[in-house]
Amino acid sequence: MNIIESLNWRYATKRMTGKKLPAKDLQTILDAIRLSASSYGLQPYHVIIIEDEAVKKQLQSMAYGQAQIVESSHVLVFTAWSNVNESKIDEYLQAYSDTSGMPVEKLIAFGLKDRMMQAIVSLSPQQQFSWAAKQAYIALGTGLIAAASLQIDATPMEGFIPAQVDELLGLKEKNLGSVVILALGYRDLENDMYQKAPKHRWSAEKLFTKI
Ligand SMILES: Cc1cc2nc3c(=O)[nH]c(=O)nc-3n(C[C@H](O)[C@H](O)[C@H](O)COP(=O)(O)O)c2cc1C
Repeated sequence: MNIIESLNWRYATKRMTGKKLPAKDLQTILDAIRLSASSYGLQPYHVIIIEDEAVKKQLQSMAYGQAQIVESSHVLVFTAWSNVNESKIDEYLQAYSDTSGMPVEKLIAFGLKDRMMQAIVSLSPQQQFSWAAKQAYIALGTGLIAAASLQIDATPMEGFIPAQVDELLGLKEKNLGSVVILALGYRDLENDMYQKAPKHRWSAEKLFTKI
């Protein structure tokens, strides 16, 4: 399948079979998420991978009973940093320096730290979380495309109660907040009527303007 065929093949799967993903396919999806683009490259999010059936069951009760959660192979909970402070920026600069071989002092001299402090750390906690959540959504999209390319079904899900999920996963203590869920698995060919639904999208004329 080419990329467009894969994107037509995928749909937000409502019913799954419970079949497990091969470890290497799960790893490919996680690698894709890890390689996702993010503003400043900061990746201000953390992804929790849930396979434990009892935890999935609890999660389902916080997600309006949606069946995919317990019928999936794995559930990924995308969480965003709720506090982007100076020490997070310093940690990032050090990690960037380790990868690139560029001394931290040089990165600071280029103005990178100042720009990140100004653009992110100066925001209110609520604005920081909202900015971090946007980055998490890009990673979600990358994961969705990776899953489709492997013909693994996936459901992006906002239909859950974040405060309850934060409590279940102990996120507050880690300065994280749940943002969006990705259920991964295999469509139930017999019981998921949504697989036959036509793709409803705005026309190209409505969606794009060429200048
Ligand atoms: C951020 C986000 C949240 C969503 N939340 C849910 C959800 O809680 N449950 C669900 O079944 N589908 C959910 N969807 C799926 C959308 O309804 C679906 O992607 C959209 O209707 C387009 O259909 P398709 O993905 O099947 O092509 C969500 C999609 C996105 C991107």
